[in-house]
Amino acid sequence: MTSEVKLMPFDELAVDSAVRVDIDGHRLAVVRMDDELYVIGDRCSHADYSLAEGELDDDEGTIECWKHGSTFDLKTGEPTCLPATKAVPVYAASVVDGIVTVTMTEERQP
Ligand code: FES
Repeated sequence: MTSEVKLMPFDELAVDSAVRVDIDGHRLAVVRMDDELYVIGDRCSHADYSLAEGELDDDEGTIECWKHGSTFDLKTGEPTCLPATKAVPVYAASVVDGIVTVTMTEERQP
């Protein structure tokens, strides 16, 4: 079962920034890169560190975990370098009437 959850006005996200949002037991990294929106799991798949605190790479479309430097593709959630080897969740998200809206499933992150 899925549900649409409104998170925040898109305009509140600074260009090329990421913020962590905790909702319904999910930890999300909400990312704005230029005018593109991405929502991925905030917990690095290597260890329990917040991806929203990492650096964005506009050219590669990735976010870098600040702890050990793995980068994750914002579209697929797949790591693009070690030490992480597993993908993080990717959530369907869109801007509806100016509000960041994400599609959640009942499945929770481990
Ligand atoms: S905790 Fe993210 S790469 Fe190690």
